[in-house]
Amino acid sequence: MSSTTDRTAGRAEIAARTLRTDLWWRPPLIQATVLTVLLGYVVVRLFLRQDYWVPEYNYLTPLYSPCISTSCTEGSTHFGSIFGELPVWIPLPIIVFPILLGFRGTCYYYRKAVYRSILQSPTACAVKEPARRYKGESRFPFVLMNYHRYFFYLATLLLLINTYDAALSFFPPGGFGFGLGSLILVANVVLLWGYTLSCHACRHVLGGRLKHFSRNPVRYALWTRLSGLNARHMQFAWASLVSVTLTDVYIMSVAAGWISDLRIVG
Ligand code: FES
Repeated sequence: MSSTTDRTAGRAEIAARTLRTDLWWRPPLIQATVLTVLLGYVVVRLFLRQDYWVPEYNYLTPLYSPCISTSCTEGSTHFGSIFGELPVWIPLPIIVFPILLGFRGTCYYYRKAVYRSILQSPTACAVKEPARRYKGESRFPFVLMNYHRYFFYLATLLLLINTYDAALSFFPPGGFGFGLGSLILVANVVLLWGYTLSCHACRHVLGGRLKHFSRNPVRYALWTRLSGLNARHMQFAWASLVSVTLTDVYIMSVAAGWISDLRIVG
């Protein structure tokens, strides 16, 4: 028997890592690249502490919302300053980032993407994984995956705030008006609602633990509609991740004066 033979009990003894001949490595490679680039951008952006608020148009990037420290730029603290001055090594979105990381990091879809593309556990179906033992999600930090539904509740609260921010962009200091930035904020919020409402935990909250759907017609109707969204959860996961990044890029560009906002009304 070859030293590279898979000796795992109950599994076929195959020396090769896989017998697959298709491009099984391509989707995980693309996912790992995109996730690394986007996560790297977000981390750098969180520590920049500038160009996240455009006072003329009430544009606040979702990465900094809510901004709740006295270190935040004047006008951007829509919900008051809960924290005092924060040292530069603490990101201003001190609440936002842990919640978003927790929500996306424990998401059923992202778990699959990360396990396959980054942890190689396994990289694809019928491809041998490097780890010799499988411990599942029973130990730290993976045991945190079981808390997804609590991150779902917190992320929904954040999304309500993002929705408020998008509405606020239609009422800049001079009165009603909107520009391309407002439309981008709205589109971003729509995609985020699509991602959040299609969450498996959301579907379970509405339709789970019921013995008789016939006795709960309203919850059944909601559950049925969310099930349709749930089938597109992966698409919402990627679209909303890209939209948050692009929304931030646009608002940063306007705030920094690199571009002017395209005003449509007002
Ligand atoms: S399963 Fe993906 S956000 Fe809940």
